[in-house]
Parts: sequence; structure tokens; C-alpha cells
Amino acid sequence: MSSYSYLRTEDRRTFASGLYCKECGKRFELSIRSACDECFAPVEVRYDEEGVSNALTREKISRGPSSIWRYWPLLPVSRDEGMRGLNPGMTPLRECSNLAKLLGVKRLLVKDDTVNPTYSFKDRPVATSVPKAIELGLKGVGCASTGNLAGATAAAAAKYGVPSYVIIPQGLELNKVLSAHVYGTNIVEVNGTYDTANRLANLIADRYSIGFVNINLRPYYVEGSKTLALESVEQLGWQEPDRIIVPMGSGALLTAVGKGISEFRRFGLSDGTCMISGTQPAGCSPISESFASGNDIRPVELPHTVAESLAIGDPASGSDAIGVIRESGGYADAPQDDEIVAAQLLLARSEGIFTEPAGGTVIASLRRKIDDGTVAADETVVCLITGNGLKVPSHLARGIRSHAVGSTLPEVEQIFGQAK
Ligand SMILES: Cc1ncc(COP(=O)(O)O)c(C=O)c1O
Ligand SMILES: [Zn+2]
Repeated sequence: MSSYSYLRTEDRRTFASGLYCKECGKRFELSIRSACDECFAPVEVRYDEEGVSNALTREKISRGPSSIWRYWPLLPVSRDEGMRGLNPGMTPLRECSNLAKLLGVKRLLVKDDTVNPTYSFKDRPVATSVPKAIELGLKGVGCASTGNLAGATAAAAAKYGVPSYVIIPQGLELNKVLSAHVYGTNIVEVNGTYDTANRLANLIADRYSIGFVNINLRPYYVEGSKTLALESVEQLGWQEPDRIIVPMGSGALLTAVGKGISEFRRFGLSDGTCMISGTQPAGCSPISESFASGNDIRPVELPHTVAESLAIGDPASGSDAIGVIRESGGYADAPQDDEIVAAQLLLARSEGIFTEPAGGTVIASLRRKIDDGTVAADETVVCLITGNGLKVPSHLARGIRSHAVGSTLPEVEQIFGQAK
């Protein structure tokens, strides 16, 4: 019998059994911790195997809520507490047959996380880490952010009624800052890059009782991100695609996708041999460069790219991401900014999906890798489109052209031609 059977209702449970060091396996309580105190390797949440096997069946998942909480036995907070939040997830897996034909691949699906509550995938990791912070009795929540996480953290904090603090680099796109401001957060803008913001957030996290979702709550944060992989597999009829392509900043999302896929396999919910590939913009590609060279990750001092949300020079989960890519037989890539912007427009104009440049990085990479033969023509590929284009308008707004006309028909003939 499961040791959790004393709990009254399913909704109150979590099967999380502890934090475990990814290197030496040492177990820690489910507390505020991101690394092992013996070998300094990252720690991760693991679950009670028997409890999860009983509670997580295809039938039970299908009958669950239309959000990440359908996978509650594999999440680190109780479903009741989690569902008091914004309930992200179960976003569409869109069949992209027009773009598949254009690029030359059998089947292409876009996991469309542009339609989450704050318009990026970041609502997922926040949905598991903010309630955890509250459960642990912390006084507030925060994050270091390249933009999207700030909005997601601020919105979730508003919903749970706790104060929030978002540490961002100077000069972020206005709409990203606005998307945090409206939720009534405290915005701290540092004079420097994301890495400067991240270092400052680490210092604050050590000093005050604040749960920084991607720092001292990082193990709980990645659990939310892995639902992108779980949903993709479920939406494909419990089949893994041949390949998932993931945008990489710190590498946390890609690592989480790897964890999700392997947990689904372990609990018999999917089988397959999905290759997990990662992509960064060429203007900030420390993970992809290390993957190609075999050398240690060399942090990028001054990232320069249109894909601002991926501009993380010193990626905290970079080595873990490389491990997942190698083990699964995937690739790591780094398209140029002009390829990224062209791919953003291609996705919008062939499939009606408006992504921010992070998603353009994914489509640009798919295009390059079909062209050089790395992606085979008979593959089924899932692209993770993780953020909405409306938050990053400036570089595209410069390209707007309109026909200036008055209000009479003869003036529009130059556009529509002669009437029949
Ligand atoms: C839209 C978008 N996609 C992908 C990522 C990359 O996530 P990670 O830092 O977990 O690699 C981010 C990170 O901020 C993001 O905002
Ligand atoms: Zn250890």
C-alpha cells in the first residue's frame, strides 16, 4: 500500500518524495535548495514510484483538468493548491501542413505556447514554483528574467496574493516590461545584462526570505516546464514524435523536456525514441558552441541578438542540456538573426502563428537542418513555440508597409486592379 494512502482526497497529495542530487544521488527534504551540499551538482525532484504508477494512467489523465494539473502525480505541489493559480497548459498542438510542405518534412507540429495566460511557456514553471514558495512559508516571490518570466511571475503572484520582485536587464522591449508592470510587481532594472540580473537575484535570494522561482526554487520550476513534453506526447496519441526542437536560454526548458519524456517512458505512458534538439541565436550560443566543440561552456560576456529572451550568456543548465541532447541523439544549432526573423515571418505567413524571435530560432533551425540533411524528410517534428510575437514588436514594426489611399474607388484601383 502506498505510504500516501492516509491523505483524504487525491487532490491534496503530492507524490514528490524529495530532492535528489543528479550526480551523487544524495537525498534532501523538499525545501529551498538548488544544489547538492556535497558535490554542488543540481538537485531534482523525484517521485514515489508506486504512488505515481497507480495515480497516473492514460484514462485518469484524459479525464483530468484541461491544464498542466492533469499530470498532478508528476508535479511537486498538490493539485488543489496548484489550481488556485492561473492554470496554464493544454495549449494547442497545431498541425502545420503548409510549412511542412514548404520546408520538406513529412509532418510538422507546433506546440503553441503563445496562448498561455501571459503569452509564453513561462506560466508553466511559475505554476509549480509559486505555490511551492507559499507552501514553504516564504514572504514573496521573484525571478531574474529576460522578459517573459517577469510577466509570468508577476501574474501568478497577483493571483495568489503575494508580493513579487522581478529583476530584469536594462533596455528590455517595452511590451515585456509592461507585461510585468500591469500585475503590480516590483520591477528592479539592473545596469547590465541578464547575467548581471541573475547574479544580483542570487544575492537577494540568499539574504531575504523570497522564493526566486528560477534560482532557489529551480527544482520545482523545471517540473512545470516538463509538461510541454508531456502534453505534446499525449496530444500525439501517446506517441513520441521523432524529434522535438527546443529554444535554449539557460537550457532549463530543454533539460525539463528530457526529464518529462523519460518519466513518461518509465511509467509506461509512451514509447519512442524522440530526439531532443536545441537551438540558440548565433549572437548568444554558449551551449550550442560547447556541443559542437566538445569544450566546456564558455560564457558570452555581451550577448547581441534579436532573440532577447534567449540572451543568457552564462547558462545555468547548459551542461545538463548538452547531456540530454547527446543521449537522445539530437543536435544543437545557432541560426543568425536574419534567419530567425525570416522564420518568424514564414511561420506567421504560412500557418497564422505569431511567435516572438525565440520561436523564430526554432523554425530557422529546422529549416537549416532539413537543408543539410540532419533532419530526415520522413520525420514527425514538434517545434516548441514558447512566446508570443506581440510582446516583441519593434524589429518587425519597421517593416510595415501600407497603401495610403483616400476614400474613393478610383484610388484603390492601383491595388486591386480594374473591376471586372
Ligand atoms: C520565449 C522563451 N523561450 C525559451 C526560453 C528559454 O528557456 P530556458 O532559459 O529555460 O532555456 C525563454 C527563456 O526566457 C523564453 O522566454
Ligand atoms: Zn551530490
